[in-house]
Amino acid sequence: MTYPIRILGNQVVLHEFSLEDVDDVLAIIGDDKVTTWLSFDSRNRDQAVAMIEGALERAQQEPRTEFYFGVTKRDGDRVIGFARIGLSGVQAGKLGYAIAATEWGRSYATDAARALVTYAFKEIGLHRITAAIGSDNAASIAVVQQLGFAARACCATTSSPTERGATACCSPFSPTSGAGDGWTARSLRQQNQAHREPGRRAECSDA
Ligand SMILES: CC(C)(COP(=O)(O)OP(=O)(O)OC[C@H]1O[C@@H](n2cnc3c(N)ncnc32)[C@H](O)[C@@H]1OP(=O)(O)O)[C@@H](O)C(=O)NCCC(=O)NCCS
Repeated sequence: MTYPIRILGNQVVLHEFSLEDVDDVLAIIGDDKVTTWLSFDSRNRDQAVAMIEGALERAQQEPRTEFYFGVTKRDGDRVIGFARIGLSGVQAGKLGYAIAATEWGRSYATDAARALVTYAFKEIGLHRITAAIGSDNAASIAVVQQLGFAARACCATTSSPTERGATACCSPFSPTSGAGDGWTARSLRQQNQAHREPGRRAECSDA
């Protein structure tokens, strides 16, 4: 198994977490501006430590089923975000990400997600990646659209539309059973297979 993994984007670097990242992590998952779009309420320092420890533990599992990285600028060492792909199903994965609110609008999420999706197709060998995004999360939808994800019809929701998980279901931190609009990217090989098998459809993700 390759560990640690380091993935270079154009503007950012994705790297395995370290407990030294806790203050930076807390600045993200302790911020309501960010977590309002995620599946959990803002977290405290102990929860930030637990989040990092969990990610580190899962990163060591064999086979690895989660690729969950801190995002730093290429010229910095402060964690400004997260990007995650969790494997689900056969050669499939679910994408999630978040960027610190102070850094929004600088293309970091797009760059991080692009780098991770590229890695997942090329190095992990995935054929399909989905992202479940609430229909009101315009910034996140813009990110996956720039990556060439295609919108799929939403699958049946498993929680009440009034519940938070129903609209904030693209959590890179903790899975939720909520369902939003599904966005899917496929490797070229998978797209070609789909042409030969017109009945096949990508299902909605419930990241
Ligand atoms: C979604 C998120 C990761 C985007 O991070 P970011 O680094 O600001 O994203 P980028 O700068 O790469 O790109 C954002 C795109 O969305 C657009 N955008 C940003 N805010 C927007 C808004 N409120 N409405 C519409 N589009 C918006 C930007 O213009 C940009 O598109 P462009 O390059 O065509 O101009 C960030 O807003 C975030 O962390 N949100 C909270 C967590 C979250 O929603 N995670 C995803 C859950 S599915």
